Parts: sequence; structure tokens; C-alpha cells
Amino acid sequence: MNRRKFVVGAATASAALAGLTPFGMAQTVLRPLPILPMTDLIKGFESRISLNLSASTHDFGNGVNSNTFGINNSYLGPVLKVRQGQTLPFEVLNEIGEVSTLHWHGLHVPGDVDGGPHQQIEPGAIWSPDVPISQKASMNWFHSHAHGKTAQQVYKGLAGVLLIEDDESLSADLPKTYGVDDFTLVLQDKTFDKSGSLNYTLTETVLDDGFLGETLVVNGAIAPTLQVVQTGLVRLRILNACNANFLNLSMATGPLNIIASDGGFLASTVQTDILTMAPGERYEILVDMRRVDINQLLVSYELPEIDGIGGYLREFNTRGFSSLIAKLWNEGDLEIAALTLKRQDEPGFNASMPENLANLSAPDKTEASVTRSFELNQYTGADLEALAAAGDNYCGNGSAMAINGKSMDMDRIDENVRKGDTEIWRISVDDWRHPFHIHGCSFRILTQEGKQPPAYAQGWKDMVHVDGEVWSEVLVRFDCEALKDAPYMYHCHILEHEDCGMMGQFTVA
Ligand code: C2O
Ligand code: CU
Ligand code: CU
Repeated sequence: MNRRKFVVGAATASAALAGLTPFGMAQTVLRPLPILPMTDLIKGFESRISLNLSASTHDFGNGVNSNTFGINNSYLGPVLKVRQGQTLPFEVLNEIGEVSTLHWHGLHVPGDVDGGPHQQIEPGAIWSPDVPISQKASMNWFHSHAHGKTAQQVYKGLAGVLLIEDDESLSADLPKTYGVDDFTLVLQDKTFDKSGSLNYTLTETVLDDGFLGETLVVNGAIAPTLQVVQTGLVRLRILNACNANFLNLSMATGPLNIIASDGGFLASTVQTDILTMAPGERYEILVDMRRVDINQLLVSYELPEIDGIGGYLREFNTRGFSSLIAKLWNEGDLEIAALTLKRQDEPGFNASMPENLANLSAPDKTEASVTRSFELNQYTGADLEALAAAGDNYCGNGSAMAINGKSMDMDRIDENVRKGDTEIWRISVDDWRHPFHIHGCSFRILTQEGKQPPAYAQGWKDMVHVDGEVWSEVLVRFDCEALKDAPYMYHCHILEHEDCGMMGQFTVA
């Protein structure tokens, strides 16, 4: 039943890499990894911190200037580095010519500064929230959350990364020199039209599956990318900022060493061969560049339907991927070396893989006083074809999909939660696989798709995978307030589904 396939043969991956010599990639361009501009707010800031949402053009590396949105940038936003305990006085100016918002995904902040659909910023207007950072070190992000327009606005570039540091993370024996041994990677899938311009076209299939692009983009550059690093440990902080694609990550050599998930550090380093990242998820990994000259972060993802397998192959060939660095496999998934790390003989960060990262006690279900159930409804009988044809590539008024039989309604509060209570939220879905997200909290996953979550998903999370009618269950507590004029959202993070109404609202008081 699953159109998203997840079988990665280790043998397949290594076969794809056999004989790889980095300088033998004659026809394949390895673009330098773009380093997103970093704003270090830990050092302090004068007056308000400006974030300008604007329309721009951006070259993804194919020589064509595409129409994009950016935040202080031609595409995507800066990486903001902040510290626990700070309050950040932002000033968000909307110059994209249509309504937008800026949501702080992962932050535990009150509903009125959360940046969800209720904190609309009209074209030309400024939104000035004071955002308190109370939580621990973690990788978070910010993105547009304008109802019905989120998918297209994020696709065009309205997203950035926010790294929280705390006393422990700043003194931890971990790489933390930005752009040297500490890299932020924003992974996305895109479609480019025949002329090479960024394209987003809603169709019935795109509304149904969510948008799937055939081209992997890393920090706004078409993969594969290359980064030269020192001899030492290298930290990669990774965000899946795809609209809908689940990404499977692996390393060409050795397992992935995962140190942190959405809401902060894991108890200790978790090793795994494959890491599945849903849209919206963040993970941090360490790569040991002392023993190898080259290592590669491999990413496999689902290709859109391009007239069957022949279409995939044509697409694959016209993009000139060398079979040594990218491999089409498993009827419609593409695996590509998203990032090649090449070691140079210069001493870098020298430490061992961390064994103790955070104190994480096992989640205790007995603390929960309330259990709530949510069924995601992808199939409501709505006419997706008509909706897609309605124009502008926006997802309409959000009434085509639902949760518990109700489509998102800005004027309806679906749940009221008591501040400080621990609850169990159980999520299921009528069909396919969906990433579920809750605002204003971090939670622990009790079960995911009916099973114990993989070790790397047992720490703090704000995203959980949901597949079929088996429950996914999370243990959650909300410590900030969200009143009825500025409620929190819970929703599917396939952005087209969210825009189609697979979203609900709740208060915390
Ligand atoms: Cu990342 Cu409600 O969103
Ligand atoms: Cu969020
Ligand atoms: Cu969904």
C-alpha cells in the first residue's frame, strides 16, 4: 500500500559508490556547499532584530535566476544563533506583496508570538514579537504559516534556521565553529522547468501526495555539493525543509552518529545505518573525518511521477547525474550524495564521540491525566482537481482535508489544554504516511506507527510519523499560554495537506 518506499540496501549504496574517486567525476558538477549567512545573536544585538521577507531571484546553481522569496537573503533566511534565557525583539517586515506570517517551529513560546496563521503580516506591514527563549539547546526553524499559502511560500524560500545554545551546549566537547566544523544543512526537493526556473504547479496529485520534486537542493544549491574540512569531528545540523518528501539519510562510509533530534540532545550518540527524516524534522550528526579522506552524506527521496519509469530515467539522464554519485533504485526513489566531505591535512576538532549528552529519563505514561485522539483525514471526498485548477497555486480556503472530520477553521477552537498538564496524544490516519507536528512544545514519542520509535527518535521531538490506522502516541506537556485569539496549531507537516485543512487549533491556559 505504501507509495513511499524505504528499502535502502546497504549493498546498493556501496555499489553506487564503488570506484568513486572525487576527482574522477568528470561530468558531474560538485557545487561548493553554500554556507547560509549566520547571525550570532548570543553576542548581543542593538535595537530590534530585522527579518525582511522579500521577493527576490536566486540561482540554484544551474545558471538561471529563479523567482524566489528570501529572508534577509535571496533564498531562505539566515541561521540565527541564540541563547537560552534571551528574549529576542524581532521586527519582521513583509515585502513579498501578499499576506504572510513567520512561525518559530519548535520554540516553546506563547501563542501570541508563535507566528501561526493568526499573526498575519499584511503586505508592507511589520510584526514585532518579543520571543522568549526558555528551552534547552536545540535546532529549530522558522517559516511562513499563512493559511492556504504556506506550501507555496515555504517552497519559494520563506524558511530559516534558529539554533538555541545553552550553558551545557556551549561548553560541550562538540564541534561548534560555524562553517568550519559545524554546518547547517537545509535539505529540500525542487522542480525546475525546461528553462531551468524553479517551478511549483499544483495538480490533483500534488495536493494528494504533497509536492515532490525531482531535484535535491542543499542550502539553496542543487546537489551534489562539496565541502573541504579539517581532520577531526564534523557536526552536521540537518533540517528536512521539503514540502512533503520523507528523506532517508545514510553515510557512504560507516553509520550515522546521531547526537540530537528536534528538541535537543539525545541521551548519548545513537548509531544507525539509515535515518528517516520527515518534512519539518531536525537531526544533528557527527562525522569522524580522522579516519577517511572522503565521506558522503547520501540522501534518498521519492521522485514525483514523471510518466512512469521511463520519465524518471529521462529526467535522470538529462540531469547528467553520474551513476557513481546518484542511483535510481526501487522504482522511483533516487539516492544522491547530497554532500561530499573531503578531508584536508590540517588538524580539526579532536574529541571522541560523546557518550553522555543529556539526562533523559524514560517517558512516564502514568503522569498523563488526559488522552486525546486525532484522526487525520486525507480523503474527505473533496474535489482536489477543481481545487488545484482554482488558480494561483494556493490551496484554497483549507477545507479539502481534515482532522477528526473537521477542516481547519480559524474561528473554531478544537481542543482546550490545561497549562502544565501532561497528556497523551494519539494520532492515526485514514491512509498513507504523514508527519504530525504540535506547536508550543516538545514531546516524547511513546509509539510511532504502532511500534517503538527508533532509538534516534526517543529524545525530545515535535514531529512524529503517522502511518495507517495504527496509533502513533506522544507524551506531551505545554508550559506556555495560548489563548483563543492566538491559539496553537497541530497539523500534518506535508504543507499541501496543512493548507488543505489537515490542521486544528488549541488553547493552553
Ligand atoms: Cu513547521 Cu505549524 O509548523
Ligand atoms: Cu511549528
Ligand atoms: Cu498529511
